[in-house]
Amino acid sequence: MDNAIKRRTAMQQPHYNKDLDVRQIGPEDLARARLVAGRAFMEHAEDWYGEDETTLAGFDGEGTMVCVLGYQPESLWWGEAQIPAGAIGGVATDPKHKRRGHAGGLMVQAIHILRERGCCVSPLWPFSYRWYGKFGWACPAPRLELKVWPDLVRQATATVGEVRRATADDASAVHRLHTEGAQLRNGQSVRSEAFWQKEDIRRELWVLERDGGGVDCSALMLIGDLGRGQGKRITVRELHGASFADQLKFVRSVADMDGVAVLNLDLPPDSLLLGAFPERFNASVEFDLALRVLDVGQALAHLKPPENLQATVSFEVADWVVNADKPLAVTVQAEGGQVQVSEKADKDALCCDINTFTQLFAGGLSVAQARAMGRLTGGNPAVGASCDALLHGRVPYRSDVEAG
Ligand SMILES: CC(C)(COP(=O)(O)OP(=O)(O)OC[C@H]1O[C@@H](n2cnc3c(N)ncnc32)[C@H](O)[C@@H]1OP(=O)(O)O)[C@@H](O)C(=O)NCCC(=O)NCCS
Repeated sequence: MDNAIKRRTAMQQPHYNKDLDVRQIGPEDLARARLVAGRAFMEHAEDWYGEDETTLAGFDGEGTMVCVLGYQPESLWWGEAQIPAGAIGGVATDPKHKRRGHAGGLMVQAIHILRERGCCVSPLWPFSYRWYGKFGWACPAPRLELKVWPDLVRQATATVGEVRRATADDASAVHRLHTEGAQLRNGQSVRSEAFWQKEDIRRELWVLERDGGGVDCSALMLIGDLGRGQGKRITVRELHGASFADQLKFVRSVADMDGVAVLNLDLPPDSLLLGAFPERFNASVEFDLALRVLDVGQALAHLKPPENLQATVSFEVADWVVNADKPLAVTVQAEGGQVQVSEKADKDALCCDINTFTQLFAGGLSVAQARAMGRLTGGNPAVGASCDALLHGRVPYRSDVEAG
């Protein structure tokens, strides 16, 4: 590994409480955990954290619970592959015990515990990229926020249909639409059909009727009142389905709903809706997702590359949490739609830190881009091309409905 990167990774080891006792807590400790979270977030946290095995708490030298987090075990779509993941949320330190490295110690232990439990990646919604970045998380891609005016949408296409609230009978159609769209990208959770029957989800779920029966497109939408008789604000939090034509028809039909004055769309950054409207509109990119590969070898082993891809790539990944002494050496070989992973690297390995590896693995960063930013060394043009062919291209995306 290149000396500059070695120096940088050595410096990246942050200040944190190495002696924190981190363990999974049971029902007897939940009340204290919720009190810690309530104080930290200044919110009611009485129903936070699960009674199952997904709450981890940190105890200081006196045996006092000082910090806590919860995680949701789930699998994420990576194209057609499913990657086992743990979405971390509710990271909290009791304000009385802040800035003593407790949350840092909790994150480090959580990485080890989640790895032991088979989680290969971990998404979360960070309060600070800098802080989580110290422990290996990175932003895989931004989210696109479009603010369009209903009048403008009406000019985009003449095709209008009927958008109505979803019923229990729509669950399997919505499930199919969501899965089709999710398999085009990386990072969305694999959901069951039962997910669409949950009360809080059903409340926001709308569908576009297909002529002659069925559903063409669906979305999770928030509908609010602008006040003073100005009409409604509709926020599309998630738009399902793989077809651009159906998505445009859905948005067009929403613009025709009664009293809509403002229409906001939260979308993947590669959404074709960005090019759908004839006039100016507001578009912004929001950086609010963080991701970490917890287990480099296992994450690569879960990929499902195209049948015709033949590629071999070696990596040397500096991940001080997993191995503080030396970079992780991994070689991945893709052939006939299968991947083989071995724990060694050849002399042309791509060398980077875990944050950069996570961004490469997530598909949003190419080898040339990482190199241009001074975050990757080693390899050669053929290895770079193989890495991009294996990992780059499918856009990472999670809507704000996702856990974390
Ligand atoms: C965010 C939060 C969890 C951090 O908890 P914490 O236990 O204070 O975190 P740490 O002590 O590990 O890290 C905080 C800082 O203390 C510093 N620190 C670490 N060990 C230290 C020590 N022994 N003495 C002094 N400072 C120390 C860290 O370097 C870090 O500095 P930085 O902010 O400049 O990076 C806590 O502030 C909190 O609960 N906030 C409200 C809820 C929230 O926003 N949660 C996150 C949701 S994603």
